[in-house]
Parts: sequence; C-alpha cells; structure tokens
Amino acid sequence: MITGQKKPSVRDVRFVSTGSCVPKKILTNADLEKMVDTSDEWIVTRSGISERHISDDKTAASDLAGPAGRIAMERAGVKPEELDAIVVATVTPDFMFPSVSCLIQAQYGAGRASCMDVSAGCSGFLYATQVARGLIASGSAETVLVIGVELLSKITDWRDRSTCVLFGDAAGAAIMRPGDEAHRILSLRLGADGTNSSLIEQPSSGTRMPVTHETIDQKLHFIRMKGNEVFKIGVRTMEEIARETLAEAGHAPEDISLLITHQANLRIIDATAKRLNVPSDKVFCNIQKYGNTSSASIPLALDEALAEGRVKEGDLVLLVAFGAGLTWGGCLVRW
Ligand code: ACO
Repeated sequence: MITGQKKPSVRDVRFVSTGSCVPKKILTNADLEKMVDTSDEWIVTRSGISERHISDDKTAASDLAGPAGRIAMERAGVKPEELDAIVVATVTPDFMFPSVSCLIQAQYGAGRASCMDVSAGCSGFLYATQVARGLIASGSAETVLVIGVELLSKITDWRDRSTCVLFGDAAGAAIMRPGDEAHRILSLRLGADGTNSSLIEQPSSGTRMPVTHETIDQKLHFIRMKGNEVFKIGVRTMEEIARETLAEAGHAPEDISLLITHQANLRIIDATAKRLNVPSDKVFCNIQKYGNTSSASIPLALDEALAEGRVKEGDLVLLVAFGAGLTWGGCLVRW
C-alpha cells in the first residue's frame, strides 16, 4: 500500500534479492535454419546468440513474472502480504489491461500492494527500478517487488529473419528495500528520445492502428526494427549513459567490479565495454543462451551473475540499458 503519509526524509534504496524464470523450450540457431533463410554462423557472428527460450501457446507474461517474483521474495524472506508495491516492466503484457502487476498481486494474495506496469522497451527494468526507488526513498513504501518480463516470441514474425533470430522470452525480478551506506543504489539516470520512436515499433498494437484483418494481413502486429540504425545509436547512448551514471556518483569506469548491459547484441556489449575501457573479465554476458529478452534482460543477467558468484558484497555494479522508445538508463549499485 502506498500510504501517502508525510515522511520528508529521502532514503537510500537497495536491491535485496533477485529471481528469474525462463520457459523450458529452447530454440537453437539450428532450429531457426530450418525456419528461415539464415545460418548459425550469421546469427553468432552478427549477434552472439546461440539459443533462446520460447514460451508455449498457453504461457503469458504473468506466468513467467509470477515465479520470478516468488523466487526473489523467498530469497529476501519477504511474504506477499509485506509487499507495498509491485512494479512490472513489460511491452508484452497478458493484456493491455488489467496490468501484469495486478495479475501477479492476485497470484500471490499480496493484497496490500499497489500495482502498476511500466512500458519503456528494453530499458523497462531500470525505469521500474527508478519508480520503486522513488516510492521507497520518499517513505511511501518499504518493500517493493520489481519485475521485468517479456514474451517477445508472441509479437515476432517467425518468417522475418531480420528479427526472429534475435528475441527470446524471460522474466527477472528483484526485491527492493531501504538501503544503507554500504548497500545502496549510488546513482540512477534515465533518458529518452521520442523523435526516434519509429526505429523499433509494433505498429498495430494500440489505438493508433487497432488490430484488424488488414493489419494482420500486412503483419503490422509484429515487431519492426531498423536494426542497423538502432545499433549505432545504441552503442553511443550506452557509453554516454554509463559515463553520466558513474560521474553522478563520483566514480570512473575503472572503479566498476562488473558491467551488466542490456543483452541485445554481443557486438553492442563489446563495443560499449571497449569505449569505456572496461576489460572483458568485468563484463557479464549471457546473450548466447537467451537472446534479447528486453525488459527481462538486465534482471535475468543480474540473477545469473549473483548465482555464479560474479557479484559479491561491496562490489560496484553498473547496469546499463537501451531500447525501444527510444529509452535508456544507467544504475550504479554498491552491492
Ligand atoms: N540471416 C542471414 N542474413 C540476414 C539475417 C539473418 N537472420 N538478417 C538479416 N540478414 C541480412 C540482411 O538482409 C542484409 O543483407 P544485404 O546486405 O544483402 O541487404 C545483411 O544480412 C546485413 O543486415 P544488417 O541489418 O545490416 O545486419 P547488422 O550487422 O546490422 O545486424 C542486427 C543486424 C543483429 C539486427 C543488428 O543491427 C542489431 O543488433 N541491432 C540492434 C538491435 C537492438 O539493440 N535493439 C534494441 C532493443 S530491441 C527492443 O527494445 C524490443
């Protein structure tokens, strides 16, 4: 519940735990070779992706988001009734309404939690994190569940080789609570450029062009992306937001213990790290197993990095994202 009580202090905020969930089914590059005119060699060389997890017909966003959130709650020792808010980042919700966060609240029986979904493309998790941070920092909430979930497979044209090789389905979650000097978000910066909104879009998906037989015939309900242009802007923007986020906290790239960027393309990740002069052993990458999972990509990577012991207490972790909108964000965490 967001109480609206007057608590003037601005508090530090931290990630307490993470969780993730991916569908069982794996689609390999070899499988894709049988579906479209492509090759494992092209996909690996151009994107770094070898396989991705794809949900079945019956699975929707809340079916992945729910379990991911439960894992994060269990690891933090948080009961559903303790949640003050649930914030879900997604561009592939179960429905336009009700929100995924409301569906999850019902799954958990988390009756005290206020619920909202945030739409910010692949930067969604960092946008949702900023919302949760604001709620906690202002004293409006103590415990917030933040989730990034995406089933891009449902809005992918499986006959379009320029997009279908890139995307996958997943959910990642985190419990956020008040932090302290040693465990906290040091800086979190967000940005957007709506003038470039047409570079990544799902043209027939809302009130601008409601879905009709004609729009379906023209495949306007699928993702369209000008990949090459997005690539160039992505590399430049990820470097800029990383530097701004570090500078706000008085840090430099060499201070980073681990860099976790949105997993859109291995070449974008490598180029960003190179521009920042961050060595490859300080860059986390799991795109080879999952492809681009949009809002889920950063929390999924963070969850795996923690499981692999790549993030330890006291580490300085930089999260950087870029995606549809266009949107971007950077978050520097003292873990
Ligand atoms: N297999 C074989 N050939 C292909 C395939 C494929 N799957 N896809 C495209 N090609 C061909 C193209 O037709 C083109 O052929 P041509 O030269 O004869 O015209 C050639 O390969 C090169 O195509 P490009 O699009 O120029 O390839 P590029 O090197 O740019 O890689 C990619 C494409 C992987 C999409 C890259 O541009 C990229 O990753 N872009 C950024 C994506 C991104 O960051 N998105 C942001 C988030 S998405 C979101 O928010 C939902």
